[in-house]
Amino acid sequence: MKKIIAYNRVEQPVLDNLRKKYDVRFFENIDTKNDTAFLKHLSESEGIVGLETPVDAELLAHAPNLKVVSNVSVGYNNLDIDEMTERNIMATNTPGILTDTVADAVFSILTATARRIPELNQFVKNGEWQTEAVEKEHYGINIHHKTLGIIGMGRIGKAIAQRGHFGFDMDILYHSRSRKPDAEKTFAAEYRTLDQLLAESDFVCMITPLTPKTEGMIGKSEFQKMKQSAIFINGSRGKTIVEQELIQALKNGDIAAAGLDVFENEPVNPDNPLLNMKNVVTTPHIGSSTHETELAMSELAAENLEAGLNGERPPNLVNP
Ligand code: DGY
Repeated sequence: MKKIIAYNRVEQPVLDNLRKKYDVRFFENIDTKNDTAFLKHLSESEGIVGLETPVDAELLAHAPNLKVVSNVSVGYNNLDIDEMTERNIMATNTPGILTDTVADAVFSILTATARRIPELNQFVKNGEWQTEAVEKEHYGINIHHKTLGIIGMGRIGKAIAQRGHFGFDMDILYHSRSRKPDAEKTFAAEYRTLDQLLAESDFVCMITPLTPKTEGMIGKSEFQKMKQSAIFINGSRGKTIVEQELIQALKNGDIAAAGLDVFENEPVNPDNPLLNMKNVVTTPHIGSSTHETELAMSELAAENLEAGLNGERPPNLVNP
């Protein structure tokens, strides 16, 4: 039986199925570089399936038999693709099936931040409504008819634009590596340079993949270019922004609020100042995490893995 590693999120029915065909070892939230049991199994394994397993040259040095690494995610910034390609190891991801789920999550975080839902939920549940009238200090801001600036107009960016345009009558601006005529036609989206988008948007939504080009793309000067009333949403990866500079921008009042599904370091450190800010809404990187979509992602990841192990081209190969 071929040996494989399952790491972090792989849904149980999929894991059970894989166990019928492979010798599977499951690991969760370990320090992969120093865990002796993991490294031993890795040295014998032909495949890895899972969420956010960091695979770089250091780890690959322990993996002489590895043929395929199948991410249960659309993002694959955890993988050193060049190094894997050099070693003839296939890398795969799970695009498409999570698009609407992530867009739903991003839009939920956007609305929760604008209407201050977590804070007001706590106000009611704490019994404060009994003693304190609802006043101006509890008001939120409108979402409808505002301008939504989307940075990264890929599949998920378009699904966010669809929700903003058709659901909330928003004006859609976007900044992307290339022009997107389909989004311009369907959602009346208008292309802007990054600086123009930052200056004109009421909501700035980050949904670009993390690459060397997008790492730290939004920092001090970008926050200062946004409206002071702007709400910043990050549904991509924490490292696409300079987190310390977001903290400073919120403290200085350069922007009004932030909704964050992702952080520079995950799980986020409980001492992170963002967690004590009333105008910051957070979720634990759950953009794609619904029961239906996680199962579909695990199934697709298993399909990719098996194709790779059988020497076939996986449906979602990301190596060039
Ligand atoms: C993705 O699929 O990239 C989600 O962010 C989960 O990591």
